[in-house]
Amino acid sequence: MTPDNRTLLPMLGHTRGKRSPVTCALKCDNACSKAVCNTSANEYFRDIVSAQMTRRSALGLGAAGALSAAVVAFGGVDTAMAGPVPTGHPARHGRLEFDPIKPVDAAIDVFDVPEGFEWTPIIRWGDPLFRHTPDFDFDDQSPRAQAQQFGYNNDYTDILRSKNGKKAVLVCNHEYVNPGIMFPAAPGTTAEERRRRNIFRQAVGLSVVELERQKKGTPWEYIRGGRRNRRITLDTEFELTGPVAGSELVKTRRDQRGRFVEGTLGNCSGGTTPWGTVLSGEENFNGFFRTQGTSPEDRRYGLENKATSMGWEQEDARFDARAERFANEPNRFGYIVEIDPENPDSTPRKHTSMGRFKHEGANVIVADNGHVVAYMGDDERFDYLYKFVSKRKYRKNNRRHNMTLLTEGDLYVARFTGTSDDEIDGSGDVPSDGGFDGTGRWLPLVKDGTSHVPGMSVEQVLVHTRLAADQVGPTKMDRCEDVEPSLKSGKIYVACTNNSQRGTSGQAAADEVNPRSENRDGHIVEITEHRGGHSGDRFTWDLLMLCGDPAQGDATYFSGFPAEKVSPISCPDNVAFDTRGNLWISTDGAPSGIGYNDGLFKVTVEGSDRGKVEQFLSVPRDGETCGPVIHDEESMVFVAVQHPGEDGSFTDLRSRFPDYVPAEARPGPGEVRAPRPSVVQVYRP
Ligand code: FEO
Ligand code: CA
Ligand code: CA
Repeated sequence: MTPDNRTLLPMLGHTRGKRSPVTCALKCDNACSKAVCNTSANEYFRDIVSAQMTRRSALGLGAAGALSAAVVAFGGVDTAMAGPVPTGHPARHGRLEFDPIKPVDAAIDVFDVPEGFEWTPIIRWGDPLFRHTPDFDFDDQSPRAQAQQFGYNNDYTDILRSKNGKKAVLVCNHEYVNPGIMFPAAPGTTAEERRRRNIFRQAVGLSVVELERQKKGTPWEYIRGGRRNRRITLDTEFELTGPVAGSELVKTRRDQRGRFVEGTLGNCSGGTTPWGTVLSGEENFNGFFRTQGTSPEDRRYGLENKATSMGWEQEDARFDARAERFANEPNRFGYIVEIDPENPDSTPRKHTSMGRFKHEGANVIVADNGHVVAYMGDDERFDYLYKFVSKRKYRKNNRRHNMTLLTEGDLYVARFTGTSDDEIDGSGDVPSDGGFDGTGRWLPLVKDGTSHVPGMSVEQVLVHTRLAADQVGPTKMDRCEDVEPSLKSGKIYVACTNNSQRGTSGQAAADEVNPRSENRDGHIVEITEHRGGHSGDRFTWDLLMLCGDPAQGDATYFSGFPAEKVSPISCPDNVAFDTRGNLWISTDGAPSGIGYNDGLFKVTVEGSDRGKVEQFLSVPRDGETCGPVIHDEESMVFVAVQHPGEDGSFTDLRSRFPDYVPAEARPGPGEVRAPRPSVVQVYRP
């Protein structure tokens, strides 16, 4: 995007708080400025039997199964890397105590942490990964260099530590690029435009980077030339697994067998499996393709007949899916991908059994019966919440077997019923029974290898999953972002980031699980699996919170915790847990009014402080907080800062993060002048 076409920002003046219209254009293809993709008439039916269950008895029944599942999950970390620290025995230094920071005004370019903590970047966009990789040079970028350097716009992040805590491997998604601030000037020639498009192809995907340090609790440094270092880009070969591999629906001129895909796109959030692989969600893939745009499938996925913002269709025919020979190319994106950070030569896989939609991410838990269950959100207004249950069972210490678990299984979509749906008027007022709660069912789309959707084959369900789900009556949600089970309680937390069209003319009305009309601040759903535990088909649910800024009069709810004592929070996106089971939430969009920079928040979910929100850090101007990773037993926290300074331009940079080179020191030869998306570590010195 050049400064000229920066004027083509349909979301200008329509975003919440500091949410940038540039983010809307580049990341989501302005999804919120367009008609809602889900025009299905599906209204979910009251589940009368479940609705009669009282809130108290339902929660009691669900908790037992959840706890036994959590034990299995901890016992099951069979990789050489230490996974989550068992929470039954909190580490001595596991408190990560801090005084919450105040929200930072959105006009201020600063990375803020609590008193007593410091921060440093671990790795930045452009940092060289291999011994012979050129150093980052803002003025002399090339596709070849970028293919060997840390990618742009880091999102999902995990840090998998070795047993002695001195080595680790960092895995990171690179969701998209910001052409308007990645170079010192506009491109000038068409040849330069083409060269930049090739740089962008190498700047997306994932990075795997080894880290090392002197001892536990001290800051990490990345290893240039580490054995496991790897870049995965748009040119990396992926293997399709599951029922869709080899299907007519994914064959193209270049892959006539329908088994291998070049690259991955829109890699947003993700999850780390109990067997030490990393999952990544292909989210807003639609914006990279030009299609006929007329079929029900195209419309349901937001695929259009217009020039894309990246323009890859100008050189690479597969991004122009109007032509018959590449008509199926978009069907090869929109999956959960799995990569093995231990083996840099392994072929990453796209798991078609887990369905195709705008996957935010996937998080896995081992159910008490040994099947593994992955929870997944489709991040679009009025789209759905899903889960996958593996056919085969988890085997401790058998990594090769466990790496097959996501290739075959059942796929479900969620229907929620409220205990007080008839009281919900869109205001966010708490129902008379004291909370937002109810029951739910997981509705099968594919079960035991058979389609449960009339008129659709298994392959069709797994490629056109949104259209399949429309037919079985799931609940239209307010944009499910991260969905993650707590390995301590077994409960599942769903970050619904916002939905400004909820309850507006022609759209689904507020219901108890999405109880605010024009929901611009988002909320958190807490699910307790019931009959059959995590692999079963019944659950109960509560809302943990309705986000917002109580001080500015927003209708909020914090599970009864006094609203005047919480940090204001808006647009929850990524979630993680510490070893004590506290929920940590990073945000993409800040509270209303003056607008605050995005941040990371700790939320207590159990005990008398349930619902207490405390802000831990604030990211720089225009940035979004991603990751996060919480190593509270070391008093360390990690976040990926995405799109810092995104509202700026080549000539008007709005952020100097992370190196904060003073203006008078710029520009020298090779001097860093742009903001650089980076993974940051916060620690006690
Ligand atoms: Fe890429 Fe749903 O956030
Ligand atoms: Ca996200
Ligand atoms: Ca997460």
